[in-house]
Amino acid sequence: MSPNRPAAVVILAAGEGTRMKSATPKVLHPVCGRSLVGHVVAASRALDPEHLVVVVGHGREQVAEHLAAIDPDARTAVQHEQLGTGHAVRTALDELARQGVALPERGTVVVTYGDTPLLTTATLTALVAAHEADRNAVTVLTAEVPDPTGYGRIVRGADGTVTAIVEQKDADEAQRAITEINSGVYAYEAGLLAQALGKVTTDNAQGEEYLTDTLAILRADGHAVGAHTAADHREIAGVNNRVQLAEARRVLNDRLLTAAMLDGVTVVDPATTWVDATVTFAPDAVIHPGTQLHGATSVGEGAQVGPNCTLTDTAVGAGAKVSNTVADQAEIGEGASVGPFAYLRPGTRLGAKAKAGTYVEMKNAVIGEGTKVPHLSYVGDATIGEYTNIGAASVFVNYDGEAKHHTTIGSYCKTGSDNMFVAPVNVGDGAYTAAGSVITKDVPAGSLAVARGQQRNIEGWVARKRPGSAAAQAAERARGETSQAE
Ligand code: UD1
Ligand code: CA
Repeated sequence: MSPNRPAAVVILAAGEGTRMKSATPKVLHPVCGRSLVGHVVAASRALDPEHLVVVVGHGREQVAEHLAAIDPDARTAVQHEQLGTGHAVRTALDELARQGVALPERGTVVVTYGDTPLLTTATLTALVAAHEADRNAVTVLTAEVPDPTGYGRIVRGADGTVTAIVEQKDADEAQRAITEINSGVYAYEAGLLAQALGKVTTDNAQGEEYLTDTLAILRADGHAVGAHTAADHREIAGVNNRVQLAEARRVLNDRLLTAAMLDGVTVVDPATTWVDATVTFAPDAVIHPGTQLHGATSVGEGAQVGPNCTLTDTAVGAGAKVSNTVADQAEIGEGASVGPFAYLRPGTRLGAKAKAGTYVEMKNAVIGEGTKVPHLSYVGDATIGEYTNIGAASVFVNYDGEAKHHTTIGSYCKTGSDNMFVAPVNVGDGAYTAAGSVITKDVPAGSLAVARGQQRNIEGWVARKRPGSAAAQAAERARGETSQAE
């Protein structure tokens, strides 16, 4: 049975995160394309809660600004001093009340942390479902862990029911031996949560208001207290330092790649392939080693990406081939070919079967179907029609030192090697340009433009100016051979 819509999700993220040793608030550190708190918000949003509140404290301006950007409907509650997890949740409920939100007494409130990016929607859903099915006042998400050090321990009575959570610092020898730990994630009945928070004291080793105390309080008041054990204890791992940040990234990345592979994507080397949670793949895409896919990148059916590509917010069309390429905000058409060693910058749109070849840089360039820019070129601020070929080593000279200008080249053109297109300039359909031309004037359709110095040969120059040199000797031999042949 699918659970009801939670009345609220409360995400605790006020802590300082000193062990990150960072000027950036801990929960804003990115993994797989989202901040730590961004992953938690995404997993929580999928429960479709009526309200989502993030408790902020350290770096609150930055965190609030980030939340407004990723989830404008998220509310923030400011906890000025970190007086404990219980105090943090109380701050969230007070802020909701202050904003005129009355949570339904029997509604479910989910509490979780902003630094647990591995927690899945599936686990949160299972927690809420268990909580509602058992009609508990509170259900805590627990996990069996190999090393429980530092965690709150789940204390169960003889009948197996949860009686309390005891913090590491408050635990006795026997309690410290317990390997079932508190993940810090809970589902509460809203009205009872508020009641219990009112009874939490600071009578403990850390002098804090412990949210964990609500379990014993609710139990003592005769309410049902339950636990739901996470299937995979790694999901509840919090990130406290950069080693754990890297571990979380590895786990998330593996999860994303596993899902892609099960959906029909070949990942040749998962160990050297890194993807963001926001990347999408079509079946039969092949990702070669050393590839990083970021942001809103999408890889079409049967496309080949890599080796050694870094694509950000880039759409790769079906059947396209992209190798050893860096691309940012580019569109690569169906069956197009990019690289090796290409750099596609924002605004590049390669049409179907188009080519951006070796050592080619493009920016704000719309390249028509079947058009090729095969070698050693810069194409900036340009529109090129269909089935045109741009000669090797061409430069679209778009910048006059003050402003950028546009070049338009038509369809079925053949431009020579080593051309400079000095923008603004237009080359008409079917036109040719000679190698080495500096094109400063428009070229009418179907004409040949030649814009280079005339060649002049000064006969005998080497013999006169470099007498006796190896070049002069070679020239003399060549002339001898020619005269013999005559
Ligand atoms: C808490 C639990 C512990 C559990 C562990 C899981 C309590 C008393 N203990 O311990 O049982 O095993 O989490 O990781 O709840 N926070 C605030 N405001 C505060 C205090 C904390 O926003 O005033 C936030 C922190 O930013 C952090 C989270 O709450 O994200 C947990 O706080 P922390 O102090 O790390 O709790 P633990 O001691 O780890
Ligand atoms: Ca912690």
